[in-house]
Amino acid sequence: MSATVRVLGFGMGPQHVTPEVASALRGCDYALAVQKGDEDPLLDVRRAVAAAHGVELVVVRDPERDRSPGLDRTGYEGAVADWYAARLAAYRAVLEERGGTCAFLVWGDPSLYDGTIRLARELGVPCDVLPGVSAPQVLAARHRIVLHEVGQPVHVTTARRLRSDVAAGQRNLVVMLTAGVDLDGFEDWTIWWGANLGGAGEQLVAGRVGAVVGEIEAARTAAKAEAGWVMDLFLLRGPEA
Ligand SMILES: C[S@@+](CC[C@H](N)C(=O)[O-])C[C@H]1O[C@@H](n2cnc3c(N)ncnc32)[C@H](O)[C@@H]1O
Repeated sequence: MSATVRVLGFGMGPQHVTPEVASALRGCDYALAVQKGDEDPLLDVRRAVAAAHGVELVVVRDPERDRSPGLDRTGYEGAVADWYAARLAAYRAVLEERGGTCAFLVWGDPSLYDGTIRLARELGVPCDVLPGVSAPQVLAARHRIVLHEVGQPVHVTTARRLRSDVAAGQRNLVVMLTAGVDLDGFEDWTIWWGANLGGAGEQLVAGRVGAVVGEIEAARTAAKAEAGWVMDLFLLRGPEA
């Protein structure tokens, strides 16, 4: 295959595209993105990014993934592996047909909960990576906070792992991929929460979990109603020991 891939983080939308990414994008022959479902508002954001820099966006339909709630760990991992292999094949088909230099437009930064770098490597084509503004950065900026206390660590994790990470001693966590998150038991912790940061329907809530959990639910609903989609994350910090 004679294609080259550039993995480009574009932040949360056209306003976050760095000069470095803009210049790389303008030098690409086309950009490639997946469409999830019939309506994909996040694809619209990628369209806006590509259009702002005069690059054609080639869209492939994302293969369906088994999202049955009853899947155990093995079933979940098998479903992800099947879906991933199908996505890899779809990308390979486009690169083989078109060749040239292709941009993979990555939401936020490619280093955080994103499979694009791995996918590009597995395609076996030359690739480079340019960073973008990530959701935790925008969260911190909006709340005007530092993600950790002076000289202390911050642990970045997913809702799925929240309880085991806290049981292992983590007290200051950025939690992403929040589907199914349950904050029961964290009433005395402090939360800085944000949804749809940098996009339509942006929402922010901060406070003691016990006091603001209802407000967060309402804000999540409002974000979804305004934008047609919702993505959220939060910083969660334990009370002083
Ligand atoms: C697949 S990960 C991608 C993260 C991305 N690579 C980054 O650098 O932020 C998606 C998760 O990031 C968070 N996220 C991404 N964009 C967001 C946004 N605009 N507002 C709030 N959370 C966001 C949510 O937790 C979401 O479940």
